[in-house]
Formats: sequence, structure tokens, C-alpha cells
Amino acid sequence: MSEARRRKAAASPLASLLEAMPFAQAAYAAADGRLVAANARFEEAFGGLGGHATRQGLLDALDAAPGAEGEARAPHTRRWYALHWGEAEVAEGRVRVLSAIDVSERREALALHRRQQEKLLSTSRMMSVGEMAATLAHELNQPLAAIVNYLNGSLRLVGQAGGPAQVERALVAARLQAEHASAVIARVREFVRAREPKRDAHTVADIAGNVIELLRLEAERLSLRIELALAPDLPAVWADRVMIEQVLLNLVKNAIEAMREVPAGERELRVQARVDLDGEVEVLVLDRGSGFSDAEREQLFSPFFTTKSDGLGIGLSICRSIIEYHEGRLFFEGREGGGSVFGFTLPSAANRA
Ligand SMILES: Nc1ncnc2c1ncn2[C@@H]1O[C@H](COP(=O)(O)OP(=O)(O)OP(=O)(O)O)[C@@H](O)[C@H]1O
Ligand SMILES: [Mg+2]
Repeated sequence: MSEARRRKAAASPLASLLEAMPFAQAAYAAADGRLVAANARFEEAFGGLGGHATRQGLLDALDAAPGAEGEARAPHTRRWYALHWGEAEVAEGRVRVLSAIDVSERREALALHRRQQEKLLSTSRMMSVGEMAATLAHELNQPLAAIVNYLNGSLRLVGQAGGPAQVERALVAARLQAEHASAVIARVREFVRAREPKRDAHTVADIAGNVIELLRLEAERLSLRIELALAPDLPAVWADRVMIEQVLLNLVKNAIEAMREVPAGERELRVQARVDLDGEVEVLVLDRGSGFSDAEREQLFSPFFTTKSDGLGIGLSICRSIIEYHEGRLFFEGREGGGSVFGFTLPSAANRA
């Protein structure tokens, strides 16, 4: 405000009243929205903001807060204000009086609190999953090694006897499953110890290929074909291969299980991958199952939430922990035309290795 204007404004009762207020305050004409008077606090907070000389101009220049009605940020100072509007009849005519209360500190404290809360949640999730995983890994390691040994022995016997090819194929498939389980367990133990994934560049094609192979039998049982649609020139991802295989395995298994009750002709399972707008690799699993209700939606990721008689209810919570460790996002939504979509993102390996 120019010195002349300030002196003139100071002369008006409205201006001197605003000056006495503890917040940034301004009066805009109700008729045309022009600034009639403002106190020094207002000039200090918004004077540097182009457009503040009209009500609409000021509102346009501020960034509205998502989710907080009446709060806005001044982009030039990055401070947050709660905006209150009131009307008054004064000598200058009808005015709309703005009180702008600086709430930056409160917002910062809130945001900090939220971040700490989220971190705590993810840590406690990770700890319970980690402990459980460590126990399971310990208990399962021995029997799995024995299974692989027995299968190798059986394969040798079948080979020596020139036994039926189907049996041999079944034994090889069983060994593949057992070896995968062992690899998962070995990684879990290492992970629980080191608390850090072992990351490298891997292609989604390899990861998805392995997973589909591991689930071939289950898919065949439901006469399902798992369609794989990978975008051309998909970059490699920066990830722990076994862990991401575990995530995809869980998601595809859930998708298969969601379609148990669906007529065979309507079962449809797709695994898709592409680069998203942020340059991350996005992997989606789409099914034509029954989807989930709003009540279920809230609970899907809670450990031990399951709607299956044979479910443990930890699949998705493990998936989320793993993806969080990879700085990715796990998300889900209803699928157009019925069913659901579960997906996750992973950083591309290009700028990481
Ligand atoms: N693709 C899907 N379609 C519909 N509901 C799903 C889907 N995936 C998961 N859900 C729901 O989320 C619940 C939790 O899934 P989650 O994978 O965590 O556990 P689970 O599959 O029940 O058991 P498990 O621990 O053996 O994986 C499921 O019981 C199911 O109700
Ligand atoms: Mg599951």
C-alpha cells in the first residue's frame, strides 16, 4: 500500500478497526469485490500476491487445501491460512470482511504426526509379519529340504526304471514348487535378519513367467488361462526377485480363488504391466471374481482378515509390506464389468543400479 493510501485508509473507521485486529484482515466491496481496506498484517501476508486487490483475484491466487474446507496456502510464502468471511455494512457500503488466520504450524504438526503414525503402522506391520515369517521359515525349512530330496530320489528311480513320462513330469513340477518354497523361505530368513531386500535389475517377463508356471496347475484346475500382456520396451525393475514373485503369486492366487464360484466361461485373468506417468513400472492383476464389498474394502489388508475357509489372511498384508520396502505402491479397485484389479508399482532399474 502506498504511503498516501495508508494515511487515507488509516483515517477511515473501517481501516482503523481492521488495524486493531490480531489477524490479517481485509474488507472487499460486496458489489464489485474490490479491496476497500486492509490492515498491515494483511499487506504483509498477501500484499506480495498478484491479484489480491480483488476478492476473486485473491481467491484465485491462493492454493486451496485438499480436504480442509476454508484453508488455503499463499504460494509466494508457502504459509497456510484459515479463511473466514463475514459481511458488514460500513460507510464505504456493504463489505465482505476476510480474516486470515495463519495455521501453518498446526498443519505442519498434523502432517508430521500423520507421517509418524504411518511409519509406526508400517513398522509394526513389518515386525509382526517378520516375526511370523521367521517362525514359519524356521519350521518349514527342514521338511522342504526333505521333500526336495525325496523327489530327487524318486526322479532317479523313475529314470532308472524308464518309468512313465507323466510321473516324471509330475515329479519335476513338484520339485519346482518345493524349490520355489525353499527359495522364498531362504529369502525370508535373510530378509528378517538383514531387514533389507536384495535388489537387482529384473524383467517383469521373467518374474511373471515364473509365477504363471508355479500356478499352472491351479489355473488348469479351474480351466483358466492366465493372459500376460506386457507393454513393449518395458524397463527392468529394481527389485528383489523372489519377493516380488511372492507378491505376484499372492495376487494371482487371490484372483484365481476369487473366481472359484464364477461360471467357467466367465473366468478371465490377466496380468498386465506398463510404465505409469511417474516412470515407474506398474503391474496389474485383473480378475472377473465377485469383487469386494465396501466393508471388505476396509479390511482387505488387515493381517488375518480372510473370507476363505482355507485362507490365512496374510497374503495381502505381506504383499503390502514387501512393496513398501521397494518404495512402491500397492493398490486395488473394482474392475469395470465386474471383478477386481490389484496392482503395484516398482521403480525402474534404469536409474538405480
Ligand atoms: N482378487 C480378489 N477379489 C476379491 N476379493 C479378494 C481378492 N483378493 C483378496 N480378496 C479378499 O481379501 C481377503 C484377504 O486376502 P489375503 O490374500 O490377504 O488373504 P487370503 O487370500 O484370504 O489368505 P492367504 O493368507 O492364504 O492369502 C480375501 O480373503 C478376500 O476376501
Ligand atoms: Mg491370498
